[in-house]
Amino acid sequence: MKMYNEMAKYVDLTYSTKDYAKEVKFITDIFRKYQAKPKLIYDVACGSGNHSKLLIAKGYRVIGVDSNKGMLKLARQNVPKMPVFQQDMRTLNIKEKADCIITMFNAINHLTSYTDFERMLRAYKNNLNEGGLIIFDTMFDQRNWHKEFWNSKTIKKGNLIIGKVDRSYRQSKNRGFVHQVYVIFEGKQKKCKIMESKYNNFIYELPKMNKIIMKLGFKHNIYYNFSITAKRTSGCFYLFVLQKA
Ligand SMILES: C[S@@+](CC[C@H](N)C(=O)[O-])C[C@H]1O[C@@H](n2cnc3c(N)ncnc32)[C@H](O)[C@@H]1O
Repeated sequence: MKMYNEMAKYVDLTYSTKDYAKEVKFITDIFRKYQAKPKLIYDVACGSGNHSKLLIAKGYRVIGVDSNKGMLKLARQNVPKMPVFQQDMRTLNIKEKADCIITMFNAINHLTSYTDFERMLRAYKNNLNEGGLIIFDTMFDQRNWHKEFWNSKTIKKGNLIIGKVDRSYRQSKNRGFVHQVYVIFEGKQKKCKIMESKYNNFIYELPKMNKIIMKLGFKHNIYYNFSITAKRTSGCFYLFVLQKA
């Protein structure tokens, strides 16, 4: 995917407005709620490893996995001690089994069908110890995906300034895509370049996800907005927590 390879550095900078500390607190609150003490966590679709870094700082052992080289390069720089593997979430296969697998920030929306979603969960189950947890999030279900959503923001870091405009489209019930344009001013000279990408998003129906999860024999719960107590609101993040029975 172009956006996670040639554009990885710029895409990652746009994540700097995300509250990763809050998300990691949610993950550790879940560990407490499920009385889980994971010895090994996989951060699948780890991107530049922002969750991994915070989990490692809390004493957890984490392995990073991503399918894109550009993002893994950033993960190696950001979390030098973390082992990383280039793998696809649908065919995840790591020798040592994990006690928890996380897949955060709408990464599951890069899948293209319910068949892919099921393949991913089967692969995760095979890589998980008994009682192990899977935690993933998504914002994009039928309720939250808007046909023509426009968003723009500006991000600044040192000598890099990015103006980013997103426009989302809907092609069919379950398929949408986002068109992103980045205007990048880089270096002391603030040299300007324009980059763009389009990436597909699978738009889920929660009942269909639940059905697949139950078919695979997981116990599961859905939480909202990175809190174990928050109620569902419009435009919220859904946090799925699955447990291998
Ligand atoms: C929105 S980013 C999220 C990165 C990170 N989890 C975070 O929260 O900052 C989505 C990530 O999913 C990765 N990705 C997309 N499809 C994937 C797949 N099939 N298998 C593994 N990683 C994938 C991308 O390379 C990208 O790093």
